[in-house]
Amino acid sequence: MKTNVCEILGVDVPILAFTHCRDVVAAVTKAGGFGVLGAAGHTPEQLDVDLKWITDEVAGKPFGVDIIVPAKYEGSDEGGKSAADLRAMIPQGHRDFLENMMDRYGVPEMPKSDGLNVMGGDGEPPMTYSQAVPLMDVAFSHPIKLIVNALGPPPPDMIARAHEQGILVGALAGKKSHAVRHVAAGVDIIIAQGHEAGGHTGEIGTMVLVPEIVDAVHPIPVLAAGGIGTGRQVAASLALGAQGVWCGSVWLTTLEAETHPAVKDKFLAATSSDTLRSRSRTGKPARQLRSAWTDEWEGADSPGTLPMPLQPMLISEASRRVDRAALNGENVGAVKLSNYFVGQIVGQMNESISATRVVENMISEYVDVMDRLESLNDQ
Ligand SMILES: Cc1cc2nc3c(=O)[nH]c(=O)nc-3n(C[C@H](O)[C@H](O)[C@H](O)COP(=O)(O)O)c2cc1C
Repeated sequence: MKTNVCEILGVDVPILAFTHCRDVVAAVTKAGGFGVLGAAGHTPEQLDVDLKWITDEVAGKPFGVDIIVPAKYEGSDEGGKSAADLRAMIPQGHRDFLENMMDRYGVPEMPKSDGLNVMGGDGEPPMTYSQAVPLMDVAFSHPIKLIVNALGPPPPDMIARAHEQGILVGALAGKKSHAVRHVAAGVDIIIAQGHEAGGHTGEIGTMVLVPEIVDAVHPIPVLAAGGIGTGRQVAASLALGAQGVWCGSVWLTTLEAETHPAVKDKFLAATSSDTLRSRSRTGKPARQLRSAWTDEWEGADSPGTLPMPLQPMLISEASRRVDRAALNGENVGAVKLSNYFVGQIVGQMNESISATRVVENMISEYVDVMDRLESLNDQ
């Protein structure tokens, strides 16, 4: 499984893990792959703590950070709006719909002492350039090997700062045109992410997207993403011309993952038909588990979703209320609503094992596949 990407990133196997959980980052890097910490929901302070912890844990082995700076969001054309201005744009009808949903499902309010989180607080609005700048400052103060951006080309200062420090830059692409634009902007590694993927995703399946992007950006290395969680899928990705894989969903049911327990149980029981793309969490289409939450937003009484970042600002507190109430599994309404981003690979995530085992299983199944394919030549 040695590809040029192994050389560029300094890893044994070209298996990259996108995860919000620092333990998964460290486990995958220590297993010979490459962990990338998703930092979009971190405060700069939390990110600093997590990156220090990972640096100590991996003892010189490589890891990266992923930050979302979307190309387009409400207010982006005017150089960004303040959190207060954005909050004032959220229609009362949407607030009423959400509060009514919380009532109907019996989800209690947060205790007053709990304060507000990043998404709904008085800090920078979520998923905007102004939120990303302090995160970038922290990321660049740690020994990261790769910084990745989603939902558009990385901003010029991300690329310039990374390259000054010898850090590679990656970007997610859901279409050939995205990949070509990223390369023109100076991106070093393209992540071709197909429709099957968890999180924000486009309309083209991984099987079609990967070879299309590989051919369009050659010799820039491409990682395949979307629907990859087993050695067979790794082998298929390399056959399509990718130099490695970038997996997100498969870590969510690992022992290390901090996935909400009610959601983890749902993931373990879900089939590959149980996800959909919905704007109900972020305002842009993102694949997630179907639940009462996504059904409500698609129902006849729904006012429709708001654009990014208004939708995450609107739902921030409600979604924390749901998570809190669903914690011990007794609040049936909250458990019905609970969901999270996950891809179609959820149908193959049927047991909770360690992230290290996931990597080991991928490698051993990959070796078996290659033997099987080789044996076809002898027939
Ligand atoms: C829970 C979750 C959150 C995600 N958040 C981000 C993110 O913040 N930034 C990003 O670049 N990609 C994000 N993604 C997409 C992943 O980086 C990755 O491309 C995707 O998970 C690959 O497809 P898979 O889910 O089939 O493995 C997320 C995916 C999941 C499952």
